[in-house]
Amino acid sequence: MSDVLRRTVVLGSGSALPKRVVTNAELAAQVDTSDEWIVERTGIRQRHIAGEGETTASLAIDAARKAIETAGLTPADIDVIVLATATPDQTFPSTASKVQHELGCKSAFAFDVAAVCSGFLYALGTADALLHRGMGKRALVIGAETFSRILDWEDRTTCVLFGDGAGAMVIEMREFPAAEAATAPGVIATKLHTDGEHNCLLYVDGGPSTTQTVGKLRMKGREVFRHAVVNLASVLGEVLEEAGYAAEDIDWVVPHQANARILDATAKKLGLPAERMVKTVELHANTSAASVPLAYDVAVRDGRIKPGDLVMLEAMGGGFTWGASLLRA
Ligand code: UT7
Repeated sequence: MSDVLRRTVVLGSGSALPKRVVTNAELAAQVDTSDEWIVERTGIRQRHIAGEGETTASLAIDAARKAIETAGLTPADIDVIVLATATPDQTFPSTASKVQHELGCKSAFAFDVAAVCSGFLYALGTADALLHRGMGKRALVIGAETFSRILDWEDRTTCVLFGDGAGAMVIEMREFPAAEAATAPGVIATKLHTDGEHNCLLYVDGGPSTTQTVGKLRMKGREVFRHAVVNLASVLGEVLEEAGYAAEDIDWVVPHQANARILDATAKKLGLPAERMVKTVELHANTSAASVPLAYDVAVRDGRIKPGDLVMLEAMGGGFTWGASLLRA
């Protein structure tokens, strides 16, 4: 066995939200809903909605700048950019290439990944694998979305659930003595899954190759909810087993912020107190691929997640796609 342990370590994180906040009461004036229904069924009280000039790329750039600065680096230090989004600025080129240019990450190769709400887990898993393969030393991993632009604002079953935002992390490949495996920071284990059988439960009803339109989001919420609780519990168990940890070892779970009831059900299945789940759904709603890095950044900046903490990231979304990643901060 090698006496060197290689791990990608999170050097910094950042996040960005559009300026405009839309409350449940404002939505209740537009569609047949109420603050009571939204809060009781989802835990959401408000969301940020992109205005003129705010796009997926602009939010991503804002979040990425903060992550690079927090990491104590400059854009020139980044070798790889992986950006998760389902709401790119354009069909092509990738939003990542726009971010690469605007930030001045001249030596980085950059691309988007599409795994909807699980996108950040897919992006982190991809970046981690690329760095392990020696394709670079430092990666900028971003989740950024403007779901407000693909919502049907007359459909009360979906329009109240989502918001816009971005989150980013800078990760760097580091080496540690193998004997330090229990305390060394970095990504310890990641598992990703896809089940295309359920692609009709959460989808956008348009696209360049089918309707030649962007389309609107459609969801059978109750069925998605049911699958989410089962799939998340299962993938969390897989990651813990691979990493050799038990649920009670986890200091913080940073979950995809779809619904406070899914977070509570996941905590219960893991046997963890609800306080160990980082919850931002109340303020940000579901920001798809942005929600995990956004919640991570909030919890680092408010002092909840501290260096040395064992943190589980997890998400489930359209595809279906789902995944989890265990890391030491
Ligand atoms: O990010 C990807 C993953 N996404 C998710 O994980 C979302 C998972 N699903 C959910 O979070 C929940 O299923 C929802 C929040 C979407 C819906 O909650 P629910 O408790 O499953 O409600 P439901 O869909 O079973 O609807 C219950 C009732 C229905 O009325 P009837 O048929 O009982 O008369 C809906 O028409 O609530 C009605 N309803 C609403 N009422 C007021 C649905 N949306 C609204 C609304 N305001 N906005």
